[in-house]
Amino acid sequence: MALINTSERYGSFTKIFHWLIVVMFAWQYFSGNVMTGMERGDIVAGLNQNNYYNWHKSIGLVALAIAILRLLNRQVGQLPGWAPTLTTGEKTFIHRAEQLLYLAMFVMPISGYFYVMAGGFGVHLFEVWRMPNPIGKIESIAFIAKWIHIVSGYVLAAAVLGHLFVVFRHQFFMKDGLLRRMLPQRKS
Ligand code: HEM
Ligand code: HEM
Repeated sequence: MALINTSERYGSFTKIFHWLIVVMFAWQYFSGNVMTGMERGDIVAGLNQNNYYNWHKSIGLVALAIAILRLLNRQVGQLPGWAPTLTTGEKTFIHRAEQLLYLAMFVMPISGYFYVMAGGFGVHLFEVWRMPNPIGKIESIAFIAKWIHIVSGYVLAAAVLGHLFVVFRHQFFMKDGLLRRMLPQRKS
């Protein structure tokens, strides 16, 4: 099983990074909405608001590291050809959606980082280490970064829904097994 992409299929690194990001982003959406919706002193699933903020920021920064590895991994090797069952319109849509997904993988954590640093909140990484603040408190940057974080969160959600729509349409209605391209290779 190839680690990097070949002209035939996605390699293991692409698949591992893809599914890691799916799990992490699911947590980011869940925690982002829970922590901004709860009151100080509330407990949700055993965690208080502080815990949610700390774990949201920490996992978000790990997701940034994975996004960097993922982009580097995409540059080496080749890109597999399009699935033969995709229409021209779908290819254009998928291409644009993938560009947006890659952009979001960087914009989301970077805007979050700028928001919390410039806002003076900082990052208590995994509740173990308080990261240094190289930006310092600058309200205007915090304000802009916060809005970029929130708005791009909605743009990303729309891109993911579009991405899922194409995958599900092929997988469940056209039954061409598109999902298999991103799953571990089966022994033949
Ligand atoms: C890696 C991907 C990330 C995703 C997908 C993500 C997603 C979200 C979402 C959906 C929200 C809720 C927004 C709302 O209020 O409607 C949120 C809020 C927030 N995120 Fe992230 N986030 C990510 C990374 C980060 C990072 C790395 C940090 C900081 C180091 C961060 C800090 C915050 C903070 C402080 C809020 C609360 C904003 C507020 O007060 O409204 N996020 N995030
Ligand atoms: C349950 C959710 C998801 C499913 C079922 C899914 C499924 C897939 C499948 C089957 C492919 C291969 C398409 C092909 O080339 O034939 C793919 C590719 C891709 N997906 Fe997803 N996906 C999901 C969520 C996400 C999320 C949340 C992101 C990014 C934030 C994402 C980003 C990408 C990207 C960028 C590609 C192109 C390959 C690459 O460069 O990694 N996907 N996805």
